[in-house]
Amino acid sequence: MYQTIDFLNQAYKQIKSSLQCQMQIDEFDIIFLGFFLTIIFNFFLNHIRLPRREYNQSYWSFVKSKVFLGLINYCPGVSQFLEKKKVEALKSFSNSLEKQTANKTFKIPENGMGYDKINERLRNWIDRDSKNYNSGKVSGSLYVQNDEKLIEECQEFTKNFIYSNPMHADLWPASRQLEAEVIKITGELFGQDKEGIGMLTTGGTESILLAILAYRNWAESEKGITQPNMVIPETAHAAFYRAGEYFKIEIRVAKVNQKTFTVDLKDLKSHINSNTICIVGSIPNFPYGTKDPIEELAAIAKKKKIGFHVDACLGGFIVAFAKEKGMNYGKFDFTLDGVTSLSCDQHKHGLAPKGASTILFKTRQLRQYAFFSTATWSGGAYAVPTTQGSKSGIGAAGAWFTMLAIGRKKYTELSKSIINATIQLAKQINEIPELEVCGQPNINCVCFKSKININVYSIHQILTQKGWNINTTQNPPGIHISVTHQNIPNLKLYVQDIKEAIQEIKANPSKYKKGGEMGALYGTTQKIPNSKFAGNALKLYLDSVLKL
Ligand SMILES: Cc1ncc(COP(=O)(O)O)c(C=O)c1O
Repeated sequence: MYQTIDFLNQAYKQIKSSLQCQMQIDEFDIIFLGFFLTIIFNFFLNHIRLPRREYNQSYWSFVKSKVFLGLINYCPGVSQFLEKKKVEALKSFSNSLEKQTANKTFKIPENGMGYDKINERLRNWIDRDSKNYNSGKVSGSLYVQNDEKLIEECQEFTKNFIYSNPMHADLWPASRQLEAEVIKITGELFGQDKEGIGMLTTGGTESILLAILAYRNWAESEKGITQPNMVIPETAHAAFYRAGEYFKIEIRVAKVNQKTFTVDLKDLKSHINSNTICIVGSIPNFPYGTKDPIEELAAIAKKKKIGFHVDACLGGFIVAFAKEKGMNYGKFDFTLDGVTSLSCDQHKHGLAPKGASTILFKTRQLRQYAFFSTATWSGGAYAVPTTQGSKSGIGAAGAWFTMLAIGRKKYTELSKSIINATIQLAKQINEIPELEVCGQPNINCVCFKSKININVYSIHQILTQKGWNINTTQNPPGIHISVTHQNIPNLKLYVQDIKEAIQEIKANPSKYKKGGEMGALYGTTQKIPNSKFAGNALKLYLDSVLKL
């Protein structure tokens, strides 16, 4: 220590004397120069925008890929070659979507189209699409059980709200009430004892965005944090990464234990500093279906006086009812002191139509940090609770109807059947010698990876050919299925198809080499290249989704 101070002292004297003799600089000039350099340095820090690094990408691999891509662009003919490849990729994405696009319309018809004609198109579309989503071989996506009566009654009820606009609470008091009741009812499920403190949103992503927005505004206003960060397990849903990008919050990714596939608490703690606004845990996470140690995370958040968001978007409706059947997932909601917000989706295992999720907050004060209002707009004073302005009452109506029509007893039975099927599926996959289930999933998703030399993406390729629409994961490469009432009857066949795929790969190793390098895009069977080069391909895919 003394040696270091001595060294710095000597260096300072040396610099000072050489500057003084060469440029006649005095102490005041050195202080001024230091001050000036600090301002310049700060300016660069705040204004130079480096290209975005993928969140799980190491700095080294980021630099390598940027330098590599930068350099090859200078090679003659390379940029033309890359452009050609992009056009080909866009064409191939478009072609795969084109196969399922019929009766394109580019303009409003001169005279309105009669309902018979419109209905004909509708029938064609539904007949074709229902073969996809009703195949019983789909991961997640459609959660409601095959209960025609429930679905028909729900359609009948919600159609009364398609033109409603609960932004005008005085004109549509029924819509307002439905929304407030959905929040209250959901809050009750997760240990909110008094009023329901939350908002109804369009889905899990919006719920998560609003939670993180609230933490950012809270931390800025009450703690003066202007360079916020949040610490999330690497398995946290992509919506948290999106919140970081939208709201300019640094994302600090905590590792996941490669045995349990839940967040490594030691690593998570090491990322927390005085600029941390919140931490996150999932019950369960999307990739592996494992539950993070919520009680421990709550204790950390409480001790550090920061927010803690529980993402129960995927599993909320399963775990909330599981306790009534004696399943013990520990405490995971507002009955835990450190939990400050929780998201739960009606449109997943709440079995409601799409467009309904609830974000719940511990206090009204925290919720207010997510609200938007302006008193000075020329259009008048304006205030909205979520990201929407005018909105339909359908989301609230669908969620309200479903929760009341199904009831606690049925939800409890349905929850039990999902849990049993999940545990059973994990057990059966673990019995396949070539595979290993990631962690111990016991809620509603199962992910497996390869134990020996079998490329799981090749298994995915064969399963897709066999009509399965399931997801791939990465780090490590895996295959994930989200268990639903639609696919439970086919899970035996799923295991059988996996076994057959392994035999096929073993018998034809060279045939499956290429498919094994490609994962699938979230929510689709669309193949995309290795993650290092996927960034551009993903944007091209979105272009093709919006193209006719
Ligand atoms: C754990 C988890 N959180 C959040 C979300 C995002 O929900 P949504 O797709 O409704 O926006 C999902 C979606 O699957 C999820 O699994």
